[in-house]
Amino acid sequence: MKFILAKRRDINMLSRHLSQLEPFQDCGEQIDQAKFSSRILNHISECALLTDQNGIILNFNEQSKQYFEMRAGIKIYTYLKPEHVEWLKSCMMNNKADEREIQLLFVDSDHECTCEFIPVTGEERFILIFKDINKGPEDEIFTTIFDKAIHGLMLINANGSVVRSNLFANKLLNLQNGRKVNIYRLLDEYETEKNIPGFDQQFAPQATENIVSDVIKIRSHYFEFTKVNEISQGYDLIVIRDISEVVEYMRRVDHQDTLKVVGQLAAGIAHEIRNPMTSLKGFIQLLEPNLKDHQKMYFEVINSELKRIETIMTEFLMLAKPKNTVFEKINLTRVLADTVDMMKPQAILHDVDIKFNARQSEHLTFGDANRLKQVFINLIKNALEAMPDKGEIFVSVETSGNQHLISVKDNGCGIPEEKLNKLNEPFFTTKVNGTGLGLPVSLKIIEEHQGTVNVISRLYEGTEFKIGLPLME
Ligand SMILES: Nc1ncnc2c1ncn2[C@@H]1O[C@H](COP(=O)(O)OP(=O)(O)OP(=O)(O)O)[C@@H](O)[C@H]1O
Ligand SMILES: [Mg+2]
Repeated sequence: MKFILAKRRDINMLSRHLSQLEPFQDCGEQIDQAKFSSRILNHISECALLTDQNGIILNFNEQSKQYFEMRAGIKIYTYLKPEHVEWLKSCMMNNKADEREIQLLFVDSDHECTCEFIPVTGEERFILIFKDINKGPEDEIFTTIFDKAIHGLMLINANGSVVRSNLFANKLLNLQNGRKVNIYRLLDEYETEKNIPGFDQQFAPQATENIVSDVIKIRSHYFEFTKVNEISQGYDLIVIRDISEVVEYMRRVDHQDTLKVVGQLAAGIAHEIRNPMTSLKGFIQLLEPNLKDHQKMYFEVINSELKRIETIMTEFLMLAKPKNTVFEKINLTRVLADTVDMMKPQAILHDVDIKFNARQSEHLTFGDANRLKQVFINLIKNALEAMPDKGEIFVSVETSGNQHLISVKDNGCGIPEEKLNKLNEPFFTTKVNGTGLGLPVSLKIIEEHQGTVNVISRLYEGTEFKIGLPLME
């Protein structure tokens, strides 16, 4: 009883707010009357609507739309039995709050409910609140669970219009209660993520399965939208889950799987290729002294091709089974200076200038100098290949916070955004003679050194690889 009184007091207060609408408008304030009454009606947790003195429905809340299929502009009397119409008309005449049990009549169903009649103070408008008699307290509990669920929930009708959405969904998709939105049109604005291992179902209105899902990227998070068809007659439910962490994990696992396959492949064929290669190399050396001048060119080609096969095999094996790395105290300034010196002749051939800048003469870390050299060679080689005619490469090392930061920067062709996440895929290459193993091997080496790699690239402007390596303890 106490609860009902308190509720009645609140509604009276709301109705007073509603009556203050006109004076505000007189003041010239731009208040949208329908919007204002919607806000008030939506504060009422039961089905509530606003009528004028002729019983014409002016506005109603979300609950009414959902449960009673109300329509504005129609007389409320259409939905009532004659004796209830009489009662309502007399309430309007007396302009006094009242309550009674009535029956709401719809085309395919009737609802027994209590109708609370509240006149809006100083207005010829009335609030009617309908409470389903057969509705137990669990409905209120379910409503709260729906609204406050930790995942997004949306009820949509057959056309895809959002009938009801909870706080999570409202916040994510900037939905506002009372504003009609079509979910399919809304989701068109966002990017759909394909090729996520483990998520391959389609989220489409015409899909026939009972449950379909899709992953959509919204503000750099991945959300799984799952549609449960016909959760209740004419309505589908959409559940939205933030699966950013899962996607990240799945991608990592998938990448590891690829590496494993490459590894097994490498281990399997390494012997098969290396043995005949050793014989080939031996025979070719035997032939060399007897070669005529015009044959020497072919000899060079055969030799360099054999070397290339050897390099590919070595890199292949590196992915499969890293060599026993020798970790020791090393000076990155030294390692980088040596690498830059080594790459200078190649750079001159490309008409590229390499600049090296070390903040200090010593940047000490714990690592394998030869393996790290291999990383820096790969990065400088890529930079050179990104600038076929002229350019500059900046190599630098400095200490920042708790790590050494190494940067290899070029002003070459840059990498298109959609290709950036392919860089650590073995065999991803855009070059005629590339193997696409340079970066995966380099990233693996950095990973073994507990380091990090960041890539910043702008198409036609250049690329910077930033490597972080731990300081020597
Ligand atoms: N500095 C860069 N500028 C522009 N594109 C780059 C750069 N570094 C890497 N890439 C792109 O990344 C791809 C993969 O590089 P990665 O070093 O793994 O293989 P690759 O250079 O193609 O072949 P390999 O290194 O085995 O000779 C390259 O083909 C290129 O498209
Ligand atoms: Mg390369």
